[in-house]
Amino acid sequence: MATAAKRIAPATLDTGLEKRDRSAVSKDLVEVLADTYTLLLKSHVYHWNVVGPLFVPLHELTEAHYKDLFDAADVIAERIRSLGHPAPLSFRQLLPNSAVEEETADRSAEQMVARLVADHEKMVKRLREAALAADEVDDLVTTDLLTTRLAFHEKAIWMLRAIIEKA
Ligand SMILES: [Fe+2]
Repeated sequence: MATAAKRIAPATLDTGLEKRDRSAVSKDLVEVLADTYTLLLKSHVYHWNVVGPLFVPLHELTEAHYKDLFDAADVIAERIRSLGHPAPLSFRQLLPNSAVEEETADRSAEQMVARLVADHEKMVKRLREAALAADEVDDLVTTDLLTTRLAFHEKAIWMLRAIIEKA
């Protein structure tokens, strides 16, 4: 049986993007996808487990975030496919590519917010680098996609920080 990698022939694409560039951009996109999925799971887990006075704002904000992250994962994976590369087959395959770490302990609401802010900050840095790298090789579609993701994460940082900021 042919594997996904064997069924796809990146070299046959003639879109003006070099094979090696499509490969490098796809690798960056796999990392962005891994970060996105890991943060999606963490946002969902916090959505379920948050308790205390911050329950309502954090429950609602994490819901908005995991929904956005889920939609984004689809867009990112489909861009990898459009570049002629296979999308990852499992979460196990994704996780080593993630800079965002899975949650392993119970957290207070404030700790959850601090961890989410740190994760979004990590992602913003990786996204900016990947967007610039894609631009460098004229992959404007990927740059546009990653810039849209940057805007989401920078806004998420602001909103999360506002929840725990003392007035
Ligand atoms: Fe829910």
